[in-house]
Amino acid sequence: MAKIPEHILNEIQDRCDIVEVISSYIPLNPAGRNFKALCPFHHEKTPSFIVSPDKQIYHCFGCNSGGNVFNFVKEHEKIDFIDAVKMLAEKTGVKLPEYRQEKSEDSSLVSTIYTINDIAAGFYGGLLAKSAASTDVRRYIEKRGIEDAVLEKFRIGYADSSWRSLADYLTQRGVKREMTLKAGLVLKGKDNSVYDLLRGRLVFPIFDARGRVLGFGARVLDDSLPKYINSPETIVYKKARHLYGLNFAKQHIREKGFAIISEGYLDVIMSHQYGIINTISSLGTALTVEQIRLLRRYTHNVVMVYDADQAGEMAALRGLDLFLEEGMNVKIACLEKGHDPDSFIRKFGPRGFDVIIKKAKNLFEYKLGVLKEKFNTDEPEAKAEIVKEMLGTINRVRNAVIKAEFIKNLSAALSIKEEAVWEELKKLGNNKSFRRGGQAGLQEVKRTVSISPAEKILVKLMLEDASVVNTVRESLKPFDFKNPDIRHLIEALFSFDTKGTIIDARRLINYLEDKVSPHVISFIVNDEVMIRDKEKNIRDCINVIKKENKDRQLRDIQSRLSLAQKNGYKDEAKSLLGEFNRLIKTGS
Ligand code: UTP
Ligand code: MN
Repeated sequence: MAKIPEHILNEIQDRCDIVEVISSYIPLNPAGRNFKALCPFHHEKTPSFIVSPDKQIYHCFGCNSGGNVFNFVKEHEKIDFIDAVKMLAEKTGVKLPEYRQEKSEDSSLVSTIYTINDIAAGFYGGLLAKSAASTDVRRYIEKRGIEDAVLEKFRIGYADSSWRSLADYLTQRGVKREMTLKAGLVLKGKDNSVYDLLRGRLVFPIFDARGRVLGFGARVLDDSLPKYINSPETIVYKKARHLYGLNFAKQHIREKGFAIISEGYLDVIMSHQYGIINTISSLGTALTVEQIRLLRRYTHNVVMVYDADQAGEMAALRGLDLFLEEGMNVKIACLEKGHDPDSFIRKFGPRGFDVIIKKAKNLFEYKLGVLKEKFNTDEPEAKAEIVKEMLGTINRVRNAVIKAEFIKNLSAALSIKEEAVWEELKKLGNNKSFRRGGQAGLQEVKRTVSISPAEKILVKLMLEDASVVNTVRESLKPFDFKNPDIRHLIEALFSFDTKGTIIDARRLINYLEDKVSPHVISFIVNDEVMIRDKEKNIRDCINVIKKENKDRQLRDIQSRLSLAQKNGYKDEAKSLLGEFNRLIKTGS
């Protein structure tokens, strides 16, 4: 569904009072200008949940959940933002824009495209079935060792090398040209002619979790490039939302209690051929949060088996962080250099692969191993670098006990004091950290808000009086602010044409929906700060931020400088030194 226009969100907010809405869920007690309650999102004995009727914002200073009325309903009902908006729209009698008309048109287009994809899969499958024994494609399949049963199961096919096989076939079947183009398998050429996207390739239909054909990937039969051509995104195929092989694997993923995630089509196909049927792949794209959430419907446990090359390692490290962030238990299995699951299974068999899977490393062992190969752990700077890298990942672990254990092991592995590692972790702040609730059913989410006092006060003043925005804009840039949420917020504030108005925080939250966590805004807005001399406060804050920023830059240059010197990178060291001196002198 399309994004709901801002003026509609505003209208709904104007018509409903946050105090009324929240008090229909939990009892609120008046406390000065605000209302207080025991927080519904975490366990507490004394109330730290505050609702401000003036600002129409809530915030819990215990667990840092907060936002506007939509955020509350969303969190409390455990529903999507859109559904929260729908609920409140209904309550307030605000009509949401009609999407139905468009939708029914859409839905018939959607089903047409599924049909075309299905016809195309049948067509390519037919061409393969008809292909004679010694043709290129048959020889290629033999070389790759793909068995007939598996060809059938995955509906693998062949696109011959002529320019219009599929296009003509679809026309014969009475498919309208306009639809053919929308399905993305046929392209427009010159003079109103059309031609097939896939030619001279082995074709892999891509299925959704229900087994419908979404699109195709197709591999050349030799070493020419591009190796694969994939069908474009269409109204039914959104790459970032699907996992290859999930339709075949989902049942087994549930039964086995974990999924194996690989990179490629053939990794999945070969795994399944050899009876390892809980394997899926992310299809070469960088793994997405949507893919992880899709997988999470079936299991919380995954083993990543990526190609044993540089690209695979990078992708694995990135995937690792994402999985952790989404609360998954993730391990990484390492293949011998140069292998991918497909080649490995063919060489060492399913048993060999099983051994590798069983030996999969946790994030700690894997990442530390990678880093230790890169850095010389005898040197303090290198240790610092390793700690920093490791903490970036460990910080995403939601379970506090596991996190603590990793930190203990990390300090032991590098022979540094555990407190030092904890201290570095604290500096990272801002990342969400999570705690399980003691009571069944309630999963507590404890967020931390790490904002320096100067940044907090300044933003608060800007939100209360937009003329302050102009003052700040003259002296600071968004980048001078340390907290990334704040940076986005500042960017937005600077872009507004503000003349002494009050910025409406509840609207700002909607406006910045994708960029700034609502709880950061609600935290700043609801936090009580004593302001005596406003002008002086503003100046002081600006100066503190400038200084903090400069110190940060100097520290950063210093650490890069000492690394460069240690490694004997003379040129780099020289330029860093220049940068350092310039910064000291000019302060910019
Ligand atoms: P790989 O290069 O590892 O290919 O890319 P592969 O599947 O192992 O193929 P073989 O073994 O060389 O035959 C992994 C995945 O990345 C996507 C495909 O989904 C592929 O399976 N990819 C790769 C593309 O989409 N386009 C490309 O050009 C290359
Ligand atoms: Mn491969």
